[in-house]
Amino acid sequence: MRSYQLVGAAALLVKAASVAQGLADSPVDCSLKSAPKRPFSDADVANIRKYFEANLDVQGSGMVVASPDHALHYDYAWTRDGALCMHALQLTTKNLTAIEGKMDSWMSWVERSLDEPDPNAGTIALNEPKFTIPDGKPYTGPWCRPQNDGPGLRAITLMAYAHTRKEAVRQRAWTVVERELDWIVANYTSNGCDLWEEVQSNDFFWVRYTMRKALYQGSVFAETIANDIRRAASYKKKADEITQNLSRHITNDGWVFESENRKVDTAVIEAFNVGDMDDGMFAPLSHEVVRTLAELSRAFCGAFQLNQETAKADMPGVLFGRYPGDSYFGGNPWILLSASAATLLYRQAKALSNGATIEPATETVLEGLLGQKVAVSSLLGGGDAILNLVRKYLTNGMHMNEQIDRKSGELRSATDLTWNYANVLKAMHVRDSVSDLIPATVVV
Ligand code: NOJ
Ligand code: NOJ
Repeated sequence: MRSYQLVGAAALLVKAASVAQGLADSPVDCSLKSAPKRPFSDADVANIRKYFEANLDVQGSGMVVASPDHALHYDYAWTRDGALCMHALQLTTKNLTAIEGKMDSWMSWVERSLDEPDPNAGTIALNEPKFTIPDGKPYTGPWCRPQNDGPGLRAITLMAYAHTRKEAVRQRAWTVVERELDWIVANYTSNGCDLWEEVQSNDFFWVRYTMRKALYQGSVFAETIANDIRRAASYKKKADEITQNLSRHITNDGWVFESENRKVDTAVIEAFNVGDMDDGMFAPLSHEVVRTLAELSRAFCGAFQLNQETAKADMPGVLFGRYPGDSYFGGNPWILLSASAATLLYRQAKALSNGATIEPATETVLEGLLGQKVAVSSLLGGGDAILNLVRKYLTNGMHMNEQIDRKSGELRSATDLTWNYANVLKAMHVRDSVSDLIPATVVV
């Protein structure tokens, strides 16, 4: 009896110790609860822009270098990075005339690249992911190819530019856009690699949602610029078809997955930002979009020691990586994706200040993420919490490597990643357009 009691007491002690241990180790929820606090000053933004522009139109080739990091083999022109960065250049500039030279040079490069025989495919280089600078030849080393996001992304960037230019530029752009979109119509269900160049599928959310935008915009473009009614109809038809199929990417829990073989992925957040057309599909305050942001925030809060330390110190902010289980360079938070999450929060703030409504169930999810009532200022504060946390780890002025070490917070992987600068500039651009709308007393 006695010995039983002792054993029982010992067992209780062990249990108590393991509960205490468990409590200490159990993940703490991260919070985005913050008052607005502009993460980058005007001087910071000017520096970021300087580093960004230094990577565009390299040696007058029109090409965008992904990063000048030669040691890590990033000094190539990736189709995706280039198209996204040249679009960011337009979105974030006040003076379109000042960027005309770089845009024209990039357009010439796109024209050249589409006529480039592709040694990897035996046809043309339309869905090649990566080219050498400055000769513009497709990279011939082993690579995850093809990557099918290029044609849509390039078309979106070209059309944005053409809309602001004279007739001759519009016609020139149409010649390229027509080829990109015809290719999408014929190939949008074909197999390819994801934007992280790792897994294969014929149905990535990132690829489909950005193609959808290219096709809808292209439909209007075909009609107004080229009076090509047949193409206008065919582009619209495919875009409608893609729209129908996109709902398959919504899980039963209401969040959006990237592909069957890579479900939880911040590529989806980047897609929400890049592919939005303000037409109600995956709108920033829709249930799916809010749920996806909450899901990813929760996943990375638990996955990164850095986020846990932030939460345990009662500091706001979450850093986002590509997907849970990533192992590239150890699997770390990415600056471009943290900026993308901040951009989404700023877009939500903007939508709310423009009078968008939010369903009660969605509001509850968003309130949980923000740790306070949903309002323009709490959404701005949420985005700021993310970017202020990124800023904390910038130890070389405004220079930004691709990643931030998940444990030590040190900058990791490629230096001066152009896509980082593009996404931070876009985030600040949206933020400023919202903070301009609300009284200065509310926004710090
Ligand atoms: C694996 C990485 O995850 C991918 O993003 C990268 O492009 C390739 N390796 C090549 O470095
Ligand atoms: C690796 C990333 O995974 C990919 O998305 C990107 O295009 C290249 N690096 C170049 O920045």
